Amino acid sequence: MKKEIYEKYKYFCKQYKLTGYNVKKLWNIIRPICYHKEFIKRSHEPFWHHDCKTIGEHILCDAIVTYQLVIKLKKRNKKYNFINLNVAIYIAMFHDLYEEPWQNNLKANDKLLRNKHGFIHPIEAVVNAITWFPNIFLDEHDSLMIIDGIIHHMYPFPVRTIDGTDLQLNNQERYDALDEKYKKIMKVSTMIGRIGCFSLRKSFYIEGRIMSRADKIVAMRKDLNSIEGYLALVTGKNKRIKRSD
Ligand SMILES: [Fe+2]
Ligand SMILES: [Fe+2]
Repeated sequence: MKKEIYEKYKYFCKQYKLTGYNVKKLWNIIRPICYHKEFIKRSHEPFWHHDCKTIGEHILCDAIVTYQLVIKLKKRNKKYNFINLNVAIYIAMFHDLYEEPWQNNLKANDKLLRNKHGFIHPIEAVVNAITWFPNIFLDEHDSLMIIDGIIHHMYPFPVRTIDGTDLQLNNQERYDALDEKYKKIMKVSTMIGRIGCFSLRKSFYIEGRIMSRADKIVAMRKDLNSIEGYLALVTGKNKRIKRSD
């Protein structure tokens, strides 16, 4: 299983033209996350993310493109030297670590519109990331940047506010068990830029904004190859996946 993930990583490095020392450097940052059982689980059926790419595969591609964007900016101008590469990569590794496969999922049909996958999955992803990788959230400032980056990665698509109403999270028990300090950061992050029960803003931190851009580059160029894939972003149903099954 672990070997398979590493092979996939190398395959995507080739696809995105990441070479030499950079392949090693990025792998050293992401390896402990890639080898976690929850990440391995998300690299197989039924965790299709876009068309026939799994969440695990999508995340690997986002991490590679995020790495490339950060390195490019730092090379272009010294004023970008302050960008925290590890934080940007962690945002990429965690941003879609949501709980359940979202396409063709009957359970999702029962949810209120405001609690559908598109709006709440960044919140589920933060909860899972803190629960499964607590060591990465020990530093308060890093935690602020990582959490805000994950929560607002879908911009200009809005995210649900944590406003005391039921969010119908698929990992509610894990959310309830979180340390209050993390719940507070998440709540504040979703209440700023609030319009009704949604928050619409970019991440406050450049690391999050870079990763959000990488997510669009990967989704539009490589993951979505069919009309069904694009429609699924809105409807939650993708006929192409059933056909490939
Ligand atoms: Fe997402
Ligand atoms: Fe994504």
